[in-house]
Amino acid sequence: MKRRTFLAGGLASLGAAWAQPGAKSGTTSERISLRDVKRLLVERVDPIAGRCRYVADLGSRQVAQPILWARRGDSVDVLIENALPQPTTVHFHGLTLPEAQDGAGFDPIAPRGTKRVRFDVKNRSGLYWFHPHPHGFTAEQVHAGLAGLLVVTDEDDIALDAALAIAPGNRVAAAIADVRVEGGGIRPYAPDAHECLHGWLGNRALVNGQLDAAWTVAPGWVRLQVLNACNARGLLLAFKDGEASVPFHLLGTDGGLLAAPRELERVFLHSAERVDIAVDVSGHRALRAVSLEFDPRHHTQAEGRPHRHAARERYRPLADATICETTSSKKEDRIAEGNELPLFSLNVGGSAKPAPPLPPRLSALAEASLPPDTPTRRMRLDFDEGGGFLIDQTPYKIDEAGFSVKRGTREVWEIKNSPISMPHPMHLHGFGFRVLRRQGTFGGARKLATEPGGRFPTDLGVKDTALAWPNETLWLAVDFTLPQEPAFSGRQRFMFHCHNLEHEDGMMMRNVTVV
Ligand code: C2O
Ligand code: CU
Ligand code: CU
Repeated sequence: MKRRTFLAGGLASLGAAWAQPGAKSGTTSERISLRDVKRLLVERVDPIAGRCRYVADLGSRQVAQPILWARRGDSVDVLIENALPQPTTVHFHGLTLPEAQDGAGFDPIAPRGTKRVRFDVKNRSGLYWFHPHPHGFTAEQVHAGLAGLLVVTDEDDIALDAALAIAPGNRVAAAIADVRVEGGGIRPYAPDAHECLHGWLGNRALVNGQLDAAWTVAPGWVRLQVLNACNARGLLLAFKDGEASVPFHLLGTDGGLLAAPRELERVFLHSAERVDIAVDVSGHRALRAVSLEFDPRHHTQAEGRPHRHAARERYRPLADATICETTSSKKEDRIAEGNELPLFSLNVGGSAKPAPPLPPRLSALAEASLPPDTPTRRMRLDFDEGGGFLIDQTPYKIDEAGFSVKRGTREVWEIKNSPISMPHPMHLHGFGFRVLRRQGTFGGARKLATEPGGRFPTDLGVKDTALAWPNETLWLAVDFTLPQEPAFSGRQRFMFHCHNLEHEDGMMMRNVTVV
């Protein structure tokens, strides 16, 4: 890599995405409604390090890297403008959308192209997110800073904030990514063969685009909705006051609130998973959120191969600094997955106020139940010496039919991860699912399996991404009912893939065709 060029970018490249004139960054307490967004610009702000950002055009003003809010039922009508030098899409991860609005990569927006998306928000309250999904470019573009948060609210969500007496400023939505900070700048994305196989890891946490992110909150309950936006790193999230661990309550997961809160001291979330948490900060002056040490269980010894994508040959990398002279990056640049990583802090200020009791019921979510004759579809997550990690030994092809499922039917998906593998956070587009049970959980992960059916606390709600540790088998209940609306009629293609973004670009993905 052209080291001089990149270092010359220095601190400027770190700050550039947040300090462009003309568009101010949103503050987290400001609720920017997705309904008010007329245009969403996807642009590169730093050609040297390749950093990018979303800018929401609200008509009267522009907001860079906005945290968007929507009420369940809202109608959305946004013109997406691609100002990147590569094709892109905007995929609303977790939302129920027809193929044409899903931004899944079947139909990427060319550089300088536009696309209008119109849809209604049908999902339960929860933290969702939007990110690029053009096959072969996803990992690079998400790493470049293109990961936006969408907070959906509904009656349950509003009732919960009221019951917890959430002070303005005590509700926080946070996207955690990891990047390599070197010489005051963010190192451009340029994975070597090893990183294409195991994933791109950083050495620092970037939370909503900030290093050393901190919020000032009032005493009482803080409600935190956290996304793991890392390309490949799992996070064992915990809170500390000094060295003492501070317990918290799990309120919800990917697709909204649980039936009842669960008290925990740590929670594991892999790439694309979300948690909704309440922590009582009364009596503390400051809390640190950290990812605790864990055994990452990367059991594959082999080295990988850099991915080849026909589309990639036609476009240059986002970062001019790399122009891919990089053969291997230094080990010291990254912190291994499973090492402790500081994430962000909460500084507590203001007059003491007791936190009200947690409500015993958060939503009417029932345990998943299935008719006994529900058919099972079996899938294997394997390692192939030549092809890397694959689903059923089949490398992804964008035009494949993939799995064919019947609209309105239910299926059990049995997903078995190989013992000589690594963790794979498996994500399904278009449908939320329930985790029924897990088997074969070993090592440190076993301690997380505290729930009935060998499940993790993060398995309890409505999920769109579920983690498969090596040797595990997971049983998921999927309901392939689509809304009875013209937009959802006809054949609809979705995707099922690993959300380790190097695995996703490395073909660990299949289409799911609803007929
Ligand atoms: Cu978050 Cu298919 O993606
Ligand atoms: Cu998705
Ligand atoms: Cu994977």
